[in-house]
Amino acid sequence: MKRALPSAIVPRIDRSAGIAYHRQIFQSYRAAILDGQLRPGQRLPSTRMLARKLGISRLPVLDAFERLLQEGYVVGRVGSGTYVSAAGFDRAETVDRAVDVGPFRVSAPALDQFPHHIWRRLVARHARNMPIDMMAYGDPLGHLPLRMAIVEYLRSTRGVSCDESQVLITSGSQMGLQLCALALLGRADSVGVEDPGYFGARRALGIGGATVRPVPVDTEGLLVRALGSGRGRCPRVVYVTPAHQYPLGVPMAQSRRFELLEWVRCNEAWIIEDDYDSEYRYVDPPLGSLQGMDGGTRVIYMGTFSKAVFPSLRVGYIVVPRSLVKTFVDYRESLDLFSSTLYQAVLADFLREGHFVSHLRRMREVYKSRRDALVDALARRLDNMLSIVNADAGLHLTALLPQGIDDRRIARAVGERGISALPLSACYAGKETRAGLVLGFGCADETQLDRAVEVLAHVIESKCVGQKWSC
Ligand SMILES: Cc1ncc(COP(=O)(O)O)c(C=O)c1O
Repeated sequence: MKRALPSAIVPRIDRSAGIAYHRQIFQSYRAAILDGQLRPGQRLPSTRMLARKLGISRLPVLDAFERLLQEGYVVGRVGSGTYVSAAGFDRAETVDRAVDVGPFRVSAPALDQFPHHIWRRLVARHARNMPIDMMAYGDPLGHLPLRMAIVEYLRSTRGVSCDESQVLITSGSQMGLQLCALALLGRADSVGVEDPGYFGARRALGIGGATVRPVPVDTEGLLVRALGSGRGRCPRVVYVTPAHQYPLGVPMAQSRRFELLEWVRCNEAWIIEDDYDSEYRYVDPPLGSLQGMDGGTRVIYMGTFSKAVFPSLRVGYIVVPRSLVKTFVDYRESLDLFSSTLYQAVLADFLREGHFVSHLRRMREVYKSRRDALVDALARRLDNMLSIVNADAGLHLTALLPQGIDDRRIARAVGERGISALPLSACYAGKETRAGLVLGFGCADETQLDRAVEVLAHVIESKCVGQKWSC
């Protein structure tokens, strides 16, 4: 049923602001979608009606709607109007990730700490002496020296059981996820994803039309018993982040790992193990990979250099069971023949010459200090309002808010102050949600984090007043 636009979100035009009307209209709707005031499926007024209501020409309204459409906040249905898109929030989040550089940004490493001088030297070396065969078409699996260096790293640090013929270089984990969707899932299949979970995985795994099924997560990881059983009735693929559950940060317990592996064997399903962030653990050594426990038969292992090197490199990898290598390579070639050989060669040297491991060792100290600063500041300023789920690893932590607090409203309010906190409720695909904030600490130093917590505390204190939960 079509729902009318609540009058509260009809954009108000400030004629004296010196900001173009189309921008004001666009920003107002975008904010309403982010805030949750406008929900997926809700209808926007016609451009003609809105222009009349605002007392302006139709042109700026059309421009604003065009941009909302382009950026995926709304969808247009011929002859029936414009509606808030189902992917509205995810889309907004992606756009924010690309443009927002505030503290607490999730998935953002400390790019200023990267050993640029070493990288420059390696790029120059390869660019100067590029042999002719490196200019030709490359191996769809990826540059062999890089695959060999990855195998060595994964065997020694993550207990992954593989050789280089099973490693496929991808354009980041996102491409790895798309390949899994193409190779493992048909339209009639379903894929189980952690809930809350990584929106990038939900989006990529659903591209071929498979049903994406949210599966709850508790303090030990994905609830295996919620997957159900029986071929055709339960998911064919399960996506998990066992080293550091995204976004809650809990590692998957050993007993849960055994349970999941047993479930997968009984139901002839596949696991996608996204081992993002496994490089950064600040307490006891991490548990090894699920892939290693399984012997590499039913697990597709996935890693990326986006955090440990830098995201614009767009190099990730998947380790594929032997029985699936050919299928994955065929799909890889159909998406894109192979990744840029020059940067694969540079990265191979970065690993082989020990720069990667030294960089990780140094960054573990940097991030640990930032994490400690954030944990301390939250304890000092927001101890009675935020409870940290787990801060033992990774580049972000998740802190829960008391029941009744609207985390999107808080995220929006701190966003207006240049701070990008991700609302936990936005990470859920199912009905059950918890309110909280996902706070990155990778790209801001201790002083910036301290200041950001101060702003967050002010916002939470002011926004709590008048809500069900009282400060
Ligand atoms: C859970 C998870 N997996 C993977 C990635 C990395 O993706 P990519 O390698 O495509 O940059 C991220 C980055 O945000 C992530 O949060």
